Amino acid sequence: MASTIPLDTLKTSTVHSPTMKSVKALAESASLSSLPSIYSFTHNPHDETIISDDAEDSVPIIDVSLLVSGTPEERSQVVHQLNKACSDWGCFMVINHGVPESLTKAMIESFQEFFNLPEEEKQEFHGNHVMDPIRCGTGFNPSMDKVNLWRDYLKCFTYPEFHSPNKPAGFSEIALEFSKKNREVVTVLLKAISKSLGLEESYIDKATNIELGLQILAANYYPACPEPDRAIGIPSHTDHGLLTLLVDNGISGLQILHKEKWINVNLLPNALFVHIADHLEILSNGKCKSIEHRALVNDKATRMSIALPHGPSLDTVIRPAPELVDKGSHPPAYVEMTYREFLELQQTGRLRSKFG
Ligand code: OGA
Ligand code: NI
Repeated sequence: MASTIPLDTLKTSTVHSPTMKSVKALAESASLSSLPSIYSFTHNPHDETIISDDAEDSVPIIDVSLLVSGTPEERSQVVHQLNKACSDWGCFMVINHGVPESLTKAMIESFQEFFNLPEEEKQEFHGNHVMDPIRCGTGFNPSMDKVNLWRDYLKCFTYPEFHSPNKPAGFSEIALEFSKKNREVVTVLLKAISKSLGLEESYIDKATNIELGLQILAANYYPACPEPDRAIGIPSHTDHGLLTLLVDNGISGLQILHKEKWINVNLLPNALFVHIADHLEILSNGKCKSIEHRALVNDKATRMSIALPHGPSLDTVIRPAPELVDKGSHPPAYVEMTYREFLELQQTGRLRSKFG
């Protein structure tokens, strides 16, 4: 999705090459005391941050276990909470979700071991194309980044086909289990969100052919940065797909845009952060809002996050649900296309907004 940071506030710089040095290697090089100018933004993203203790500014919390084992009243209460969270916030945190804390820890450690591999070994997984099922690199969207980003990443497609690097040892097994457990949470949430929109429970599953829905397991690595006020991890964007689940290593950096203010997100221990993403906005004809968010960096500690975007099947055409379209008051607000077409268009930088 197009960045909301006006591009002319960003300095132009070199374009990423697939063999570009990782930010991790750069951050660890002994000579680095200041930020190389190609990583430098012209304004300080921290300046716009609102740090608020106001309860009104706190992200909704959803107890997902009540959707599975709650009483009918509890279930409908959570469905109601989801309705508000999806329309007023575009995000929420889930607790009691069934992904074991030990598994999440093991996944974070395994990703750390991957990033610790020698640069030459990671090179093998360098990919350039959005459809490469295993891809590591630096930056965000090479066709849109105007400045280098303080972020390395590894992305693997984990469903409907499971892909993962063959190193470090044990990575694949942990990634498979972790992806499976997270997908189970999404399955429960999508049914409840369908209901919250007044649609039948399986509406979203059917409309997106979720049996073949794409799941991506992605890790972001943000090393401590010598000048965090002049760099950025990931600029403002919304995620593609239906829902993205996110955890981090306890170091904060995620911000969301809520009522035109940037708010720091501090995850509750062992909670999952859920982003409403573009294809849920499209499917709901704008009732659910995909959340604008970004990642800032700091000069104290390495931050790692794991994001799991869950999307429709790649070849299903996604359009606003006819039940939510009214020719008079709610005409279809989005162009229809397959998820694959959307991803490819987005990579070219020609997708200016979700309106196509
Ligand atoms: C992403 C993302 C935010 C974070 O991976 O799409 O927005 O906190 N990550 O790392
Ligand atoms: Ni994101």
